[in-house]
Amino acid sequence: MAILVTGGAGYIGSHTVVELQNAGYDVVVIDNLSNSSEKSLERVSKITGKDVKFYKTDIRDREGLNAVFEKESIDSCIHFAGLKAVGESVQKPWEYYENNIAGTLTLVDVMRQHNVKNIIFSSSATVYGDPAVIPITEECPKGQCTNPYGWTKSMLEQILSDIQKADNEWNVVLLRYFNPIGAHKSGLIGENPNGIPNNLMPYITQVAVGKLKELGVFGNDYDTPDGTGVRDYIHVVDLAKGHVKALKKLEDNSGLSIYNLGTGNGYSVLDIVKNFEAATGVKIPYVIKPRRPGDIAVCYSDASKAEKELGWKAEFGIKEMCADSWNWQSHNPNGYEE
Ligand code: NAD
Ligand code: UD1
Repeated sequence: MAILVTGGAGYIGSHTVVELQNAGYDVVVIDNLSNSSEKSLERVSKITGKDVKFYKTDIRDREGLNAVFEKESIDSCIHFAGLKAVGESVQKPWEYYENNIAGTLTLVDVMRQHNVKNIIFSSSATVYGDPAVIPITEECPKGQCTNPYGWTKSMLEQILSDIQKADNEWNVVLLRYFNPIGAHKSGLIGENPNGIPNNLMPYITQVAVGKLKELGVFGNDYDTPDGTGVRDYIHVVDLAKGHVKALKKLEDNSGLSIYNLGTGNGYSVLDIVKNFEAATGVKIPYVIKPRRPGDIAVCYSDASKAEKELGWKAEFGIKEMCADSWNWQSHNPNGYEE
């Protein structure tokens, strides 16, 4: 039996395929390559020494999905495929709702037609909105999202929960990621954003590699120790391992489960700059800019539920996150383009 990984050529997907193959799972990847390169999967094979079965398929393509389910013996699905750029989602809400929501509805329908009813879904801490409590536990109520991307995550959580409620043969795990950064130790795979990065760490690494002049720090007047925004950064390899643990949970017919995947530690923007400089020896020039609309001051997890119920805990600290992000970027200044 194989695990279907949608969006498996992407940043988190490719790292998860490595951990799944290392744990002995058979993996089948589908991806439309809209935000990734098939080269990431060649690199995954280099790391694991195993071939990756890949279908260039869109999750909105019912016939394409059917063909994969008919050919492969799929047991469970880890569903990463989706569009994820916050700013772009404000400009193109229809495209985000159509890709993420219609795509997931099609995927889930094809799954149930093939009697595959186990799914792990990539959600986000963004569903908490401006969180009611810090650190954020899974009981914290979901909040108002500030952009269509966030709403697709919030709505898909609801949709998958309702589907599980109506048919208890479904097992659904909603994983709420905090801020994934870092890369595989080998430096062979990593985050490869299109254009100018929106997220902090890829922006910093592109400043470090000389592609961008300086970092803009979005606001230094938040109610935080140094005034800059605080987040829960998590090493992508730890995050990937969380999915392997969540698969074990699915095997116990767990029904609906929700977990935060974070470290439980908050770091400010300036903490990240300092830690990056210390881990790499590269200076990051920065200027203070106005707050970015939609940003919140502080967001970090209480990650104890995943530890208690999945036996999963993040192992890497901020130093490794910075060093591994830099190892990837400095060896691959143009991502997967040679
Ligand atoms: P990514 O863009 O690197 O990976 C997503 C992959 O999905 C890409 O390879 C893309 O080509 C593919 N894809 C998109 N639409 C598709 C479609 N219709 N059919 C088939 N494939 C499609 O992003 P990532 O950072 O690896 O994120 C993976 C998932 O985790 C996404 O759902 C994202 O929203 C979620 N997430 C990411 C973060 C983060 O900070 N990176 C945080 C929280 C949640
Ligand atoms: C963002 C998204 C969130 C998404 C997550 C992961 C917003 C409002 N939220 O979270 O929905 O799930 O990415 O993809 O975009 N910063 C700078 N300068 C920069 C970039 C960022 O100062 O050039 C600051 C931000 O203000 C924030 C912190 O760095 O305080 C982290 O930002 P970012 O990496 O974009 O993640 P989030 O905003 O937490």
